[in-house]
Amino acid sequence: MDKQEIIKKTETFVKETLSKDSTGHDWWHVHRVRNLAKRIALHEGADIFIVELAALLHDIGDYKFFQGDEEAGAVKVREWLSSLEISPLLTDKIVEITSQISFMHTLPDKGKRKGKKNFSASTISKELMAVTDADRLDAMGAIGIARAFTYGGFFNRQIYNPNIKPSKSITKEEYKTTEAPSINHFYEKLLKLKDMMYTPLGRKMAKRRHRFLNLFLKQFFKEWKGKM
Ligand code: ADP
Ligand code: NI
Repeated sequence: MDKQEIIKKTETFVKETLSKDSTGHDWWHVHRVRNLAKRIALHEGADIFIVELAALLHDIGDYKFFQGDEEAGAVKVREWLSSLEISPLLTDKIVEITSQISFMHTLPDKGKRKGKKNFSASTISKELMAVTDADRLDAMGAIGIARAFTYGGFFNRQIYNPNIKPSKSITKEEYKTTEAPSINHFYEKLLKLKDMMYTPLGRKMAKRRHRFLNLFLKQFFKEWKGKM
């Protein structure tokens, strides 16, 4: 099977799988991440084929599809790649990306308050950097705002509640189970993403999207107080 065919088949598989999902992951998120990741990959001299395949598959392995089972996601990605007869070496590279991409992986486990570090840029592949930056950028800016409230609405979260303060150092378990208002998510995740970018282009884009997040919050709180 040639690369073009592999990508096309994977695209169809992902569209079909995500159409059955109701957690708020959608094909258009994958579409944006794929395009952004390819753009970053081009800048970084990363392998475009690996980046495109991993970007397409990055949410298939999401723990939310598997009721918290993080391993099951990787199994599903492996099964798909094996059905395409992708080599074990390439499969490993792609699974490495789809299983390490999540913001949640950078959070400390229960009982440990100290945050885990972002993976060191010197130890991870350019391909992982491109897909991770792209996925994180899609959680920022105007699109990130739209996604946060879509997610919040789906899980019956309030928009904002001044009595529920954002958690300063959220653990992995809290991130999975939080019922806090959507605005809290800005402080628990979205505003942190700017400093977690791996690539120069990612950083540049994140800076602008971060500014927009702050602008939104400023306006939001002015309106909340009835000042505007
Ligand atoms: P990841 O698993 O890569 O950390 P998610 O799949 O949890 O990210 O998030 C999907 C989208 O929903 C993102 O835009 C994210 O910012 C948003 N989101 C995740 N958790 C919350 C939450 N508790 N409140 C509002 N938005 C959220
Ligand atoms: Ni994603």
